[in-house]
Amino acid sequence: MKSLFVLLCLLGEILARTWFDGLNYNPKQKDGSCPTVDTVRSDLSTMAPYTDTIKIFSVKDCNQGEPVLRAVEGTSWKVVLGMWVGPDDSAFNADVQELTRLNSVFDLKKYVKYVVVGSESLYRKDQTEDQLIAKINQARQLLNSLGLSSIPVTTADVYLNYSARLASAVDFVMMNAFTYWEGVPIEAAANTMFEHINAVKAISGGKRVVVGETGWPTGGSNFGAAVPSLANSARYMREFICRAHAEQIEYYWYAAIDTPWNTTPTNTVEAHFGILDADHNPKYPGDNWFACDNSSKKQGTIKMLIPQQNRKLIYEALFNEGVMVAKKDFNAPKHSELMVPNLQVIKALQSLNSRGYVKTQFSWQYYYYTLTDEGIEYLREYLHLPAEIVPATFKKPVRAQPTSSRFGRQELNYKIERDGEYPRRDRDEYRRRDDRKEGASGDFKPEFRGGAGRGRPQPR
Ligand SMILES: *[C@@H]1O[C@H](CO)[C@@H](O)[C@H](O)[C@H]1NC(C)=O
Ligand SMILES: *[C@@H]1O[C@H](CO)[C@@H](O)[C@H](O)[C@H]1NC(C)=O
Repeated sequence: MKSLFVLLCLLGEILARTWFDGLNYNPKQKDGSCPTVDTVRSDLSTMAPYTDTIKIFSVKDCNQGEPVLRAVEGTSWKVVLGMWVGPDDSAFNADVQELTRLNSVFDLKKYVKYVVVGSESLYRKDQTEDQLIAKINQARQLLNSLGLSSIPVTTADVYLNYSARLASAVDFVMMNAFTYWEGVPIEAAANTMFEHINAVKAISGGKRVVVGETGWPTGGSNFGAAVPSLANSARYMREFICRAHAEQIEYYWYAAIDTPWNTTPTNTVEAHFGILDADHNPKYPGDNWFACDNSSKKQGTIKMLIPQQNRKLIYEALFNEGVMVAKKDFNAPKHSELMVPNLQVIKALQSLNSRGYVKTQFSWQYYYYTLTDEGIEYLREYLHLPAEIVPATFKKPVRAQPTSSRFGRQELNYKIERDGEYPRRDRDEYRRRDDRKEGASGDFKPEFRGGAGRGRPQPR
């Protein structure tokens, strides 16, 4: 029985072509009416080839928590469960009550992956940071009191709205970004997205950064230089997801299913973010929507090309310092300090990382590698070194050394603490983009993100 299961899993691996970490899902029906257990089951069965994790925005809105949890009960589906935070406390309080009720009906520990308190509530200026942090703490206390303390708690907000202080209040950071809504042309879209991710990583205090929402519409009006189309959406999907896989960024794609009920005269785009159209048909051609070509096999081939003597130089430098930094530049003829092509340094360290011998961080276009205890042992053996020789970072007392200050997180934190926020240029740039949007008098409505549909309760 077990081997049959393993066989089926292997077969699944071979057949698995397009697989998302998770999909943002609004269970409302095509006409905007509230879901039933049957409609959710039907949605799940059409999403099943693409993911096993859905992210919803509220449990009380449309009373969707109950049918969603009923539909996933007894399956391997996982739910990232949102609690809506609006301009006043009513939606949040309603979600608090409903979550408490649902806990008496369902085994939430089994099906709820994360609890997300608020979605872009800072971006919409619905809440101050203090108010939001208070709600995050309240939600955590609620989970503790319900015996659900194992479920991580966070908030999803636009990348610019995440401060170091907010990051310190969550269990991990969940950021949203749509380069489409910044008017970025498709050619630059994925790169811009990763600039945002890296900016948030730099203030996250070492906490994991997860993308709560990103995507690219397949239809609707242009937004500045950003053009919605199937081809562009497929391109953004491939470029973003392949790199997210390579850099191990967990993400929740926006969105699962098109939402025709979520269209206004000024926002023709919002309905077209789904990977499935409103009738549940897959929108992208072919089976493999993002064939990421840098598979481990390919990386293995590159690994073989590192000459023995270069590998030794890399390992010696790494062992001496205990840390290493490399610019993310695969074409640089030489690493900044070693007489070795930069790509060979990156590949050698990538291989050490995959065996747990270094930890890797990526920020501001640089990889930062830190030797682990296992890594020390491995390199000591590889380099035939006696036990009394230890890397610089492991010598006591540990003091800030000018030569190593550019390594690791300390400097990044310092930079952020000093500036108090993201580099000003980025922020102003974002503002300018906003101004352009508003000035363009076309499609932009500031409420686009949460307003019409992302699980926000209907105006009452
Ligand atoms: C969130 O972002 C919006 C838009 O950039 C900004 O107007 C608002 O002040 C930010 N709020 C916080 C608390 O950072
Ligand atoms: C893998 O491919 C993606 C997109 O094709 C690219 O952005 C990323 O840098 C690659 N990663 C590595 C480690 O080569």
